[in-house]
Amino acid sequence: MPEAIFQFPRGFLWGTATSSHQVEGNNFLNSWHWWEEQGHILHGHQCGLACDWWGGRWREDFDRAAEGNQNAHRLSIEWSRIQPTPDKWDEAALEHYRQMMRGLVERNLTPLVTLHHFSEPMWFLEEGAWENAGSVERFTRYTRKVVEALKEYVHYWVTFNEPNLYLIFGYIQAVWPPGKTSFEAAVKSAVNLLRAHASAYREIHAIQPTARVGMAHHYQDLLPAREWSPLDRWTTRTLHNALNELITQPLANGKLNVLILRRNVPEAKGTQDFFGLNYYTRSRVAFDLTKAAEVFARRFFPEGADVSEGAFIANEPQGFFRAIQWAQRAGLPIIITENGVNDSEDRLRPRYLAAHLHQLWRAVNFNLPVKGYFHWSLVDNFEWERGWTQRFGLWALNEKTQQRTRRPSANFYAEICRQNGLSAQMVATYAPEILKQIFPDS
Ligand code: FCB
Repeated sequence: MPEAIFQFPRGFLWGTATSSHQVEGNNFLNSWHWWEEQGHILHGHQCGLACDWWGGRWREDFDRAAEGNQNAHRLSIEWSRIQPTPDKWDEAALEHYRQMMRGLVERNLTPLVTLHHFSEPMWFLEEGAWENAGSVERFTRYTRKVVEALKEYVHYWVTFNEPNLYLIFGYIQAVWPPGKTSFEAAVKSAVNLLRAHASAYREIHAIQPTARVGMAHHYQDLLPAREWSPLDRWTTRTLHNALNELITQPLANGKLNVLILRRNVPEAKGTQDFFGLNYYTRSRVAFDLTKAAEVFARRFFPEGADVSEGAFIANEPQGFFRAIQWAQRAGLPIIITENGVNDSEDRLRPRYLAAHLHQLWRAVNFNLPVKGYFHWSLVDNFEWERGWTQRFGLWALNEKTQQRTRRPSANFYAEICRQNGLSAQMVATYAPEILKQIFPDS
């Protein structure tokens, strides 16, 4: 009998995603280093050497990606390395990134490059970051410098990673740098960030007309805790607008709506060539009077949910399908720029991966224009304010010895990438507990 397989279209991009501060190590000039020094990270953790990519271990990790049959990789550029002070461009750092890009291309890994993945130069923060209208020009000049240097190798660009989370955590909840709790600062920053994106979008196209430019949008699927409750439904919708639609709306229509505030950003309209989607989980939302600062929303996972370590992520693959349906309204090709789960033991990851790729395949078969999938992440790395407590890698990392250890999911993903599909045989081997669920006839 022929083997049952959920096959993906030819040319589908299969990769993993990383970001500069999380993997490079020794980034001393950026906002996150300062934040770590201030003691804001769980258990006082520091990024330190991270995965030592700046020291050269990108080579061995790119080898791992290529040997795992991946054909693409998403990574980011560290602005503070390229422009350590406002008046200095570091040509050696640019050359270092050129080598890395060449390293990807030589391994047949298509690069997808993010220009801003949460971290920024300390001097930029001191200038007032995105609250300063000059940030638009600053970001545009940085973009020009990077694109001129890397255009030989790179055609896919992401300007900003998850600007919604960046703004909420950094400007409203103060859990990330710059550590503000100001609604006004958040709105001002959102406007300038959107302008910076729009300006960078045009700058990239001027330099490289064939480039494909987008953003990586964080979407969290939200369901009212009690479907019958108008208050739960209202809170869910309000949170959805404030979180998921915050940045995607102005990109669609030039209008930024933050709760009761309205701002026009006409230049942002239509400035995406693809829709980058980061999806991790789905939550239930209940109206809660004590949560005024969080639009009266109490978020939780339902009892019995299949959760990751620390109940950080619930395995909710149907939310992924809904995320893709939501993303397709933009009318653009979709790239899954991140999806994954923290799981040091690799107990949950195989079934999380299988179930999410099953939903991805369903989406493709409903003719939703998904062009690629980037798993977060290739190797364990520094998880922001959660430090080293969470392990998202297909490969485990001992950050002290720099030793990498292959998790079963690395083999599973390698087979998926090799076959450009997910087969019953693979699921039987790596996630037998859900075989009947996704291959009911096997
Ligand atoms: C996303 C971030 C990424 C990583 C994953 C787990 O929100 O973009 O850097 O931290 O979560």
